[in-house]
Amino acid sequence: MSASPNTVPSVMATAVATFPNIADTTARLAEVGYVADPHIAGVVSLASLLGKPLLAEGPAGTGKTELAKAVARAMGARVIRLQCYEGLDESRALYEWDYRKQLLRIQAVRQEAAGDWNAIEDDIFGEEYLLHRPLLEAIQAEDDVVLLIDEVDRLDIETEALLLEILSDFQVSIPELGTVHARQHPMVVLTSNNSRDLSEALKRRCLFMHVGYPTVEREREIILAAVPGITENLAEQVARIVRTLRDLNLKKSPSVSESLDWARVLVLQGQKDITTDVVVEHLPVLLKHQADIEKATEELTGA
Ligand SMILES: Nc1ncnc2c1ncn2[C@@H]1O[C@H](COP(=O)(O)OP(=O)(O)O)[C@@H](O)[C@H]1O
Ligand SMILES: [Mg+2]
Repeated sequence: MSASPNTVPSVMATAVATFPNIADTTARLAEVGYVADPHIAGVVSLASLLGKPLLAEGPAGTGKTELAKAVARAMGARVIRLQCYEGLDESRALYEWDYRKQLLRIQAVRQEAAGDWNAIEDDIFGEEYLLHRPLLEAIQAEDDVVLLIDEVDRLDIETEALLLEILSDFQVSIPELGTVHARQHPMVVLTSNNSRDLSEALKRRCLFMHVGYPTVEREREIILAAVPGITENLAEQVARIVRTLRDLNLKKSPSVSESLDWARVLVLQGQKDITTDVVVEHLPVLLKHQADIEKATEELTGA
């Protein structure tokens, strides 16, 4: 396959240059503070080479949103974020007509008494009266952007269809205006906390990546990268204890966000070694359910 340079829009060229293989991707992400494992780095690289959206799925707090931000930092690109929620619609995701501006225009034309309705209609459904929402903004951007479609599993399955055209063709059809084609082919990262299955149509358009809880070694690296002033020894202890808690089969296992909060607390308190008493005292930083706190306390103290 040989693509001539001017058929590769700028963002994807930047992505290909930044993430050409696993080793370089791991290094570029590490430079901007993201600790990737070979699986994560590999899929980021493949998505860049293919110019396909990347779907990162896994439990909350494992670094999916941060991955999209880190990819952007590594590329020197801007993040455009669409935060998904139940009830999100076209007017929030794609575009909306600026009714106020349209009304003002109609009133102005009326006052001039030059009311050729067809001319006004053409006029007020022009680009100038269009409010760009994140998806349209991303394909219309002139600078390098990473489009983050965050927590896509929060959308109703019907609303997912809004994303399909943009994910496969990088274009948006607007009935009154026609098809808006991409000025650039943005790097796209979707995240899902896996609260429901996504449609096959959506998955087909993406490269899939599972982001699970990190290994003890990687979590130690993440803590060292994110928490200033922490020692290697303390970071290692945090990673090991959190791993033990995850093995307890709790309602909600602590994720990387909680490990980082805990590590920060330990540094602020000047703790050198983590005793059982300290862990029990700090469990509210790590766990979110009373039943989990009780279960963990029992396991830790043998009570
Ligand atoms: N591999 C990683 N490297 C650096 N920081 C990470 C990593 N994974 C998680 N984090 C940190 O953990 C926290 C939670 O990550 P986030 O991306 O919000 O999780 P998610 O989007 O999966 O719920 C953030 O503070 C993030 O910076
Ligand atoms: Mg997130």
